[in-house]
Amino acid sequence: MSKRVDGGAGMRCWLVERRPDGTVAGGVAEGAAAAVAGCDGPLVRVEAAGFNYKDALACSGHPGVARTLPLIPGIDAAGTLLEAAAGLPAGAAVVVTGNGLGETRPGGFATHLRPPVEAIVPRPPMLSAREAMALGTAGLTVLLALDRLAQATPPGHCGHTAGEWLVTGASGGVGMLAVAALAGAGRTVVACSRKPTAEPVLRALGAASVVHPDALRGDPGKPLVRGRWVGVIDTVGGTLLADVLRAVQPGGVVAAIGMAGGVELPTTVYPFILRGVTLCGIDAATLPTQAERAALWPRLAALWPRLCDTLPVATLALEEVGEWAAALLRGDALGRAVVVPSARVHRHTINLAGAWERSERVWCRQFGRPSGLEPGDSIRLVFAMPGNATVMLNGASLPALGGDAPRWSHDVTALLRDRNELTLAADVPPGADSGAFGRVALPEQFGHPALEIVSRVVDP
Ligand SMILES: NC(=O)c1ccc[n+]([C@@H]2O[C@H](COP(=O)([O-])OP(=O)(O)OC[C@H]3O[C@@H](n4cnc5c(N)ncnc54)[C@H](OP(=O)(O)O)[C@@H]3O)[C@@H](O)[C@H]2O)c1
Repeated sequence: MSKRVDGGAGMRCWLVERRPDGTVAGGVAEGAAAAVAGCDGPLVRVEAAGFNYKDALACSGHPGVARTLPLIPGIDAAGTLLEAAAGLPAGAAVVVTGNGLGETRPGGFATHLRPPVEAIVPRPPMLSAREAMALGTAGLTVLLALDRLAQATPPGHCGHTAGEWLVTGASGGVGMLAVAALAGAGRTVVACSRKPTAEPVLRALGAASVVHPDALRGDPGKPLVRGRWVGVIDTVGGTLLADVLRAVQPGGVVAAIGMAGGVELPTTVYPFILRGVTLCGIDAATLPTQAERAALWPRLAALWPRLCDTLPVATLALEEVGEWAAALLRGDALGRAVVVPSARVHRHTINLAGAWERSERVWCRQFGRPSGLEPGDSIRLVFAMPGNATVMLNGASLPALGGDAPRWSHDVTALLRDRNELTLAADVPPGADSGAFGRVALPEQFGHPALEIVSRVVDP
């Protein structure tokens, strides 16, 4: 149920606020005040907003991102200027990024926002608002990293021409864009991902090979291992970045972009003093000036044709923000997502509770592909009140059921075939071992499974 925020009929946003019990929660709010009050920038109609890891942190109330509450998350957006500003006329197509949006002031998860003038740059005419936000801050970050790495690579070093480049967190938004940009620049790219299901799309984006982070551990007792990488774009941080640093070639360069896997960096000085490795920090939110961002957008637009048929980009309505934020924080999301504030969601549910086949500790359910799907519809596998079990669909592992959340949900659109097999494996939950085998209802202890067909209608 959406909440009314006061005034401004027709304006909607995703609002994160602290409840009286001290917890932080978000939901759709209606009314102008939350979106634009207290902000002195020109009014922008938001047609799309990028969904970045930082936005997921803001949705959870992370104090490092949500510097003020209540807050509308969304560190970037694309839309139309409704008032002349930044040397642009009313009606101009613009993108707005950084400058406190979605952190210290209302961000892009709203139908309207008032960004500071410094955040506004023209949108390249060849990019729609949705396409611009499929690239978004993630794309800007990748270009900044490529530029920094090129500057930091010693003259004559093979990083300019040959050798292997590594991208970590490769199935994420920044990771996929980094794979595509490096491959487009002629580099041999090794994509590091925990998700076996991401391999086909990573190869299609240009990765020469895909490795699991476990394969990069090397001998944990050694401060240096065989030098393999001439360059690295790291979005994960933590122990993975430390492992990677030990395996960078002499003169190699590493861009530290993210912390999806942790903020600690348990390393030594040896990669730096014995191999001359350079570690570059990238900060897309505050460092690039307005002029630099304006110069980066045409380069991003030039990258788009290489990606547009391959990069997974989910389109979300405001109502879906909370669910996507949770998936990002779990590390489950694939590729990019774009919030379209004018989109409305329609859900149609197909109950999967009956007709399970049981054999020992494995329950199996067959079902056909739902019919009548429209382009852009997505299909989610949902368990209300999930119990504990491992889940596979058509042989692919999905995130395990369980935990404290009242609902488990996973986008399975790309995994579905005409005939599908869903399997759950678990020790028999207490009270479930009726001894019944054959076609049975799924024991309640596993939760209530359903397929949810999600359609989005964009308001004119
Ligand atoms: N410095 C900057 O200016 C800047 C700009 C944009 C983003 N960032 C940062 O870059 C990172 C990636 O951003 P993004 O938008 O690409 O996020 P994302 O789409 O959520 O991707 C993050 C990826 O990291 C990997 N990962 C590894 N360990 C993880 C863990 N314990 N939990 C969650 N994910 C884990 C996952 O990929 P696999 O499953 O494939 O391993 C995941 O898909 C974030 O930390 C973000 O804050 C920084």
